[in-house]
Formats: sequence, C-alpha cells, structure tokens
Amino acid sequence: MRTLHQNPVVFITGGAQGLGLGMTRHFLDRGWCVALFDLDGDAGAEAIAALPQDRQDRALFVAGDVCHEDDIMRAIAKTVAQFGRLDGLVNNAAIAHPHHDAIEDLAWQDWQRVINVNLGGVFLATKHAAPHLRKTGGAIVNIASTRAFQSETNSEAYAASKGGIVALTHALAISFSGAIRVNAIAPGWIEVGDFQKSANRISPTHSDTDRNQHPVGRVGTPADIAQAVEFLLDPTRSGFMTGETIRIDGGMTHKMIYAE
Ligand SMILES: NC(=O)c1ccc[n+]([C@@H]2O[C@H](COP(=O)([O-])OP(=O)(O)OC[C@H]3O[C@@H](n4cnc5c(N)ncnc54)[C@H](O)[C@@H]3O)[C@@H](O)[C@H]2O)c1
Repeated sequence: MRTLHQNPVVFITGGAQGLGLGMTRHFLDRGWCVALFDLDGDAGAEAIAALPQDRQDRALFVAGDVCHEDDIMRAIAKTVAQFGRLDGLVNNAAIAHPHHDAIEDLAWQDWQRVINVNLGGVFLATKHAAPHLRKTGGAIVNIASTRAFQSETNSEAYAASKGGIVALTHALAISFSGAIRVNAIAPGWIEVGDFQKSANRISPTHSDTDRNQHPVGRVGTPADIAQAVEFLLDPTRSGFMTGETIRIDGGMTHKMIYAE
C-alpha cells in the first residue's frame, strides 16, 4: 500500500482565509509542507506572519488568481521548485457568497466570473498539478457545497459552479484511474468569520436557531473540513475512495422541513 512521504506537500487554493486558512494551519500542524495560493496578498502575508517559525519554514504563499492560467502555472512550478514534490491539491478557492442578482438582472459578466473562478479554477489547478501528482501517486480534494444539491433563491451561478465541481470530480477520477484519486467535500454552513484577514475578521456568535437547525446541534468549523480533507489525501485511510463527494453539514440536508 502506498503511504505518504515523510514531509508531504499540499497546494491549497484560497489558502489564506476561511476554510483554506483552516486547512493551511491543520496541514502545517501535522508536518506537511503547504503552498497557499490566494488572490488576496494582504491575507496571504498575514497568514504566513502569524505562523510560528518552524511552520513558516514549511509554508509558501503565492499570490494569484485561480482562473489566470499563468498565475497557476507559476505557483505550482514555484511549489515544486521549493519543496521538491507535490502530494496533494485542494481546490478550495471560490467566490464564496452564494447570492447574486435575480436571474433577469444577473449580468453575463458576473455569471462568467463565478463560473470561471469556482469551476474554471478547479480545471486549471488540476491540469497543471496533475503531472506532479502522477509522479507521487497523489490525490485531489475539491471543495463543492451542499448548494450543489439544494438552493435558496438567486443563487444560480454559485449552485451551478458547485454542481459542476461534483460532476468534474467523478469525471477526473475516471480519467486519472490508477494514477490520482479525486474526491470532493460538500460543506454546509461552516463559520469562517474568525478566519479572515484582520481587516475583515469578526468574532462570530450563533443563536439557538442557528445551532438547532443542525441535527448535531452546532454550526461547522474549518477544522471539521480540514480533518476530512486530510483523510481524503491519505492513501492509507481513503485509498479505496475516488470520484466521491462527501457532505459535511451537521446533518442539515437530511432534515425534512414542512411549512407550519
Ligand atoms: N463557509 C461555508 O459555509 C461554505 C459552505 C459551503 C462551501 N464553501 C466553500 O468553501 C470554500 C472556501 O469558502 P470560505 O467560506 O472559506 O470563503 P472565504 O471567502 O472565507 O475564503 C475564500 C478564499 O479564496 C480566495 N479567493 C477568492 N477568489 C479567488 C481567486 N479567483 N483566486 C485565488 N483565490 C481566491 C479569497 O481571497 C479567500 O482567501 C469555497 O469553495 C466555498 O464555496 C464554504
């Protein structure tokens, strides 16, 4: 059975804030080398500066846009030049706010931007990481959303991008058969207010209603997702899984709702 290299290397898009920052810290704490790629240069610089020195030595921040092919190529090349290998790719970056204008008012450019970042970015990072992941027998985790399966009003572009990720995940799993495992996670409500750069950081509070609409009795945390990503990247624990999407939502999408 394949096992992980002693200091495995993971490339995380959107790794400077939110779920991505949670993953960056989680993997550094477990001895991985982490390349965090993010559009927000201030957030990236802050994320690195906040790390203890021994973690900083295993972290690389590269600024760029996931749907600019040159940015992705440069960042992956820099990662492999610095750390010598690539064991995991986490496609996490997204325009993470699901609500848009009503469909009649949604500008074509705004639709295209959401699809390009949220779905196109997964394609580009996968395309350029694949040659390196083939060498290590690595794995990919795509971050979808429960909004791939259920919707509120005026969330068409986001929902379509996340549904696209679920389909892209099984398509890639088949194309990479025997070489690279590809799985996805569909998070529900994960609180990321305290995982933002300092200018945007908040101390989140949740009401009983917020908590109790989840069968597990609480809102999710970045650690809930990071632990599952680590599981999916580890061939000794998830080596029989590929093409799968796991929902992690505190049971919310399994709850039957009738109008009062
Ligand atoms: N937080 C939730 O409740 C939740 C639920 C379901 C799915 N998700 C998904 O999880 C992922 C992370 O979401 P989050 O809540 O942490 O969001 P976030 O906004 O806190 O973090 C997203 C990060 O991605 C970066 N980013 C955005 N566009 C980029 C681009 N074009 N190129 C490079 N980096 C870019 C941002 O700068 C930011 O640092 C997203 O894919 C989101 O759709 C989140």
